[in-house]
Amino acid sequence: MRILVTGGAGFIGSHFVRLLLASHPDCQVTNLDKLTYAGNLENLADCAEDPRYRFVKGDICDAELVRGLMGESDAVVHFAAESHVDRSIVDSAPFFETNVRGTFTLLEAARQVPLQRFVHVSTDEVYGPIPPGRWVNEAGALLPSSPYSAAKAASDMLVLAYARTYGVPALITRAGNNYGPFQFPEKFIPLIVSNALEDRPLPLYGDGLQVRDWLHVEDHCRALDLLLERGERGEIYNIGTGREHTNLEVARAVLDLLGKPQSLITFVEDRPAHDRRYALDCAKLNSSPGWRAAIEFADGLRRTVEWYAGHPEWVGRVRHGAYREYYERHYVRREETLAAMLRGGGRS
Ligand code: NAD
Ligand code: DAU
Repeated sequence: MRILVTGGAGFIGSHFVRLLLASHPDCQVTNLDKLTYAGNLENLADCAEDPRYRFVKGDICDAELVRGLMGESDAVVHFAAESHVDRSIVDSAPFFETNVRGTFTLLEAARQVPLQRFVHVSTDEVYGPIPPGRWVNEAGALLPSSPYSAAKAASDMLVLAYARTYGVPALITRAGNNYGPFQFPEKFIPLIVSNALEDRPLPLYGDGLQVRDWLHVEDHCRALDLLLERGERGEIYNIGTGREHTNLEVARAVLDLLGKPQSLITFVEDRPAHDRRYALDCAKLNSSPGWRAAIEFADGLRRTVEWYAGHPEWVGRVRHGAYREYYERHYVRREETLAAMLRGGGRS
């Protein structure tokens, strides 16, 4: 099968490309990626020489390029997106450009070629916050809180419309928070691990009691691979573990794993419209095609912490390379926030 992967130089996409090449000897993979700040070909260095793999630097909003690549493909797995909520709050324009117009551009091309499958990788954030004691299934209402999740929800709507109107053989997946190697250290787990390694404060938004369903990236990719083969067109699939962890629990666990003091935990100003809890009902995927997360959070977190501790050069290059300007700005903002909270008698 010839598979077009968009955003394959990012965190999840790079794991997925590696999984495809490892588990499907006869596949041909084209990775279309713009290489934004979040795209890093180093994430796929071990695949670069594989004759079944091809990298194309380009934008999913480039209709001509997309049409050409789609015409050579049997299936599409669409990861490319602006993915960070905090950035979407600061500047939402790129989120609507890539996540909405980019998805639209792909769908327009998809309706003109005989594709077998189009997997649209979406997120649990489209459902908005889920009250304690409840779990949301695929029929849940969409109540996105951030520009990021609004753009993802809009792209989901486009996918459903193109499946119904034009028969594009598309399905949608909605996963919880991923973690694992090669995740950009603006995201919570790699951020706190790399801060802890440098004895810097671990910034927790608000009271740190927000709940997430942490999914190891390899478990997520296994589910996507299964759905690429056996998912039903026009369907939506939640992908999660059913486990709940507060951000504070995760931060404490990371500090324990690294033997660092709990005093590094620092409560800072909350994210605007911060969703308190995500909780996915995954009964559909669990029953058919039949998937369950295999990696226990304690084990996955330990391995992830070990990976970041063992790859300081990767973290350094990513943090202090293209990302430096944003990172420094972000970090300073938190420091200032902390100072203001301490002056005002806030938490420490
Ligand atoms: P990421 O930010 O690590 O990677 C995104 C990739 O897309 C990068 O390689 C970037 O260069 C590329 N890209 C961005 N704009 C592009 C464009 N216009 N054209 C071509 N390529 C472009 O993101 P991620 O965390 O790997 O997330 C991948 C997908 O999974 C996203 O669609 C995201 O919404 C979804 N998702 C992520 C999570 C998570 O926890 N990270 C959970 C559920 C769903
Ligand atoms: O739920 C799936 C989503 O998970 C994906 O769709 C997004 O692409 C991905 O970025 C992620 O979004 P989050 O906003 O949940 O991820 P983030 O790593 O930014 O934050 C995780 C939690 O940690 C969230 O409750 C906010 C909190 N947090 C985050 C950062 C960066 C902090 O407390 N401090 C921080 O410095």
